[in-house]
Amino acid sequence: MIAGVGTDIVEVERFKTKDELWKRFLSEKDLEYISKFKFKEERIAGFWAAKEALVKALNKRDFNFSWVTIAHDENGKPFFDFDRFEIEGKVHLSISHERKFATAVVIWEK
Ligand SMILES: CC(C)(COP(=O)(O)OP(=O)(O)OC[C@H]1O[C@@H](n2cnc3c(N)ncnc32)[C@H](O)[C@@H]1OP(=O)(O)O)[C@@H](O)C(=O)NCCC(=O)NCCS
Repeated sequence: MIAGVGTDIVEVERFKTKDELWKRFLSEKDLEYISKFKFKEERIAGFWAAKEALVKALNKRDFNFSWVTIAHDENGKPFFDFDRFEIEGKVHLSISHERKFATAVVIWEK
């Protein structure tokens, strides 16, 4: 059964800052993944959208975004890796990004 759906859209521009405050919402593994790419802001925006969409789908706010990692399978398909807490059921994630916007959809199934 679908227990929740969340979506988010974000402007890539928001992450073109020198202060790098956005690092706070990323886990160590997220940062490692993003560091491999040339256009990092697009990836960062996608990860932000994914974590915001997760909050909406789970209707859960009592966690820090950096406690959740966005990992990828061998085909590049993203999924959440919940390092610091457990989620009942299964959480599906899809991310898309281009130069100006990034978006994500999360479906929580249990
Ligand atoms: C995987 C694919 C769909 C990604 O599409 P895209 O437009 O290049 O990428 P987008 O900017 O929309 O999205 C990128 C995100 O897609 C996600 N993604 C990558 N591979 C994925 C896959 N296999 N399954 C699901 N999601 C995937 C990732 O989350 C990625 O962002 P991230 O690496 O920062 O987490 C695309 O590269 C692909 O392989 N398309 C198939 C094309 C094809 O076979 N055409 C043949 C007909 S001519």
